[in-house]
Amino acid sequence: MNATLFALPGNETAAKLISGRLGCETGQCILRQFPDGETYLRLESDVRGKTIILLCTLDRPDAKIIPLYFFAGTLRKAGARKILLVAPYLAYMRQDKQFHPGESVTSEHFAALLSSFTDGLITVDPHLHRRKSLNEIYTVPSVAVHAAEHIAEWIKQNVKQPVLVGPDGESGQWVSEVAKLAGAPFTVLTKERTGDAEVKISVPHIAQFRNTHTPVLVDDIISTGRTMTGTIAHLREEKMKPTVCIGIHAVFSGDAYSDLKRAGVEKVVTCNTIPHESNAINVLDSVAGSIGKIKL
Ligand code: R5P
Repeated sequence: MNATLFALPGNETAAKLISGRLGCETGQCILRQFPDGETYLRLESDVRGKTIILLCTLDRPDAKIIPLYFFAGTLRKAGARKILLVAPYLAYMRQDKQFHPGESVTSEHFAALLSSFTDGLITVDPHLHRRKSLNEIYTVPSVAVHAAEHIAEWIKQNVKQPVLVGPDGESGQWVSEVAKLAGAPFTVLTKERTGDAEVKISVPHIAQFRNTHTPVLVDDIISTGRTMTGTIAHLREEKMKPTVCIGIHAVFSGDAYSDLKRAGVEKVVTCNTIPHESNAINVLDSVAGSIGKIKL
């Protein structure tokens, strides 16, 4: 593909995979922090007239957004033709409404900001809940790659007799699709969030699968891990076999990953949208495959 890929720090593995798949060149640059924390950036490749793929997954977004903004502006000034942002994880999708007066609907502001300095966006399963499509808030063309097929394939290869469990209404869209592709039964629970790290999950009615099936919990994001640990507690009370946990995006704040592993799970696996030791499901080939399809 006739494009140059620049990866922001932390995206090296993904960059190798995507550029290898596309057969495109990778751009050279120096990006570092001054001692006072400000960003220094210097392009070392000629970008005049080129389409640029800017690769930056957006977990911990606040620290990444300024370097990304400078990067896009510098590329533009140096004559880049178009800038396509590839963000395998797209942050700030969960605050999609005002729950309390005066609250910022940050998903809208973040979308406006990214749309202001890019020409297109590719991501993987953004957290679409009350919004049905990225187009409702992003003004640049966008593609949302789906991980369902890859997750279903992993389950087929690794879990005998799975029963899929979605911990909340939003997860229903992923769980039902994965279950169909994997040919497995599923159930979707309900969740009430009472604080950043406090959730109440409904009790699953899956006793008929008790001695025969392995519960596979599927969610898009694992952040504090409380959604998963809360569900696992119910599954243990129901005397189900140890749970396999699958998250698309390995956000894992604080000790979430070790806490989850200690919760008596069989395995925790994630897709490689955010580099993490739990990454076991490759979705980046599909990301690379979608790059040629977006109309810039
Ligand atoms: C929100 O509804 C998402 O789909 C996830 O369930 C949520 O982000 C998981 O968060 P946590 O790991 O903090 O419970």
